[in-house]
Amino acid sequence: MIKKIAILTSGGDSQGMNNSIRAIVKTAKVYGLETFLVYEGYKGLVENLIVPATEIKIDQYINRGGTFIYSARYIEFKQEETRIKAKKVLESHGIEALVVIGGDGSYHGAQLLHKLGVKTIALPGTIDNDISSTDYTIGFDTALSAIVENVDRIRDTANSHHRCMLVEVMGRYAGDLSLHSGIATGAEIIITAENKMSTKEIISIVDEQMNKLKKDSVIIIISEHVYSDLNKLANDIETETKVVTRASVLAHLQRGGIPTANERVLATRMGVYAVDLLLENKSGLAIGIKNNKINALPILEALSTERPKLINEILMISKINQQ
Ligand code: F6P
Repeated sequence: MIKKIAILTSGGDSQGMNNSIRAIVKTAKVYGLETFLVYEGYKGLVENLIVPATEIKIDQYINRGGTFIYSARYIEFKQEETRIKAKKVLESHGIEALVVIGGDGSYHGAQLLHKLGVKTIALPGTIDNDISSTDYTIGFDTALSAIVENVDRIRDTANSHHRCMLVEVMGRYAGDLSLHSGIATGAEIIITAENKMSTKEIISIVDEQMNKLKKDSVIIIISEHVYSDLNKLANDIETETKVVTRASVLAHLQRGGIPTANERVLATRMGVYAVDLLLENKSGLAIGIKNNKINALPILEALSTERPKLINEILMISKINQQ
């Protein structure tokens, strides 16, 4: 049976990562295993930035966003010699297993370490919800709440001035944050990579909503990377419709803040399950939640699961919100 587990967080931080770390450390303690914290993701692993978890008072992080063991994006991990170095660092501590919390880039790293013979389990830590093998990733719910809170604020001022507001949200190339926040805020238009609209199409809807239907405001939620210049788009809409139009980019506001209750529950359940799997001598698995059941499947399968298309729901919700 394994005796020593390490944990790292990698890629963009997400709210709830701390809850998973806490759950892993405490579950391991129940089973008499030692846990080690790797600072700064794969980079810290290679550089041996590893401390025993017993040195940290971990309960203080139960309601804190970010990751208290820090994160990094580290492309050098794509090189085999770097990974071999990482394996040797783990061996030097007598650590047999590693739990990686991160997005799909981090999953690739975990899979490659698994192939090198390190026991690895991956947890989906990203606000983007872009890991298709799980219904929800750790961070999505809190990021969504942050977007909704901010769009509600934007709606107040937009209503007061009869304005159109463009709000850019994160998600990398996935539209989940846009769709869900569009549903929750009643955004009149939701635009993601799946349904990029021309300026002309947007103008026609804004004109109808504001000038014909006399709506107080129009909110357009737009996924990042869809348009290169949001201010230009706002100007074009304003010029054609005469509706004052402004653009807001929510950016990293979405990635911080106190994890929601649901986030803490999800992250904790996944963390506990990671230790269960390691105790069963499992490796190379990615944890997810499907139909409210925590499950695990091979990392490679998790990475190749096809993303469900959102387009029909995006179009329907936009239509509903335009009524
Ligand atoms: O993957 C999380 C995420 O916040 C994406 O939504 C976004 O595209 C990216 O990271 C931003 O990365 P960075 O914080 O490195 O600019």
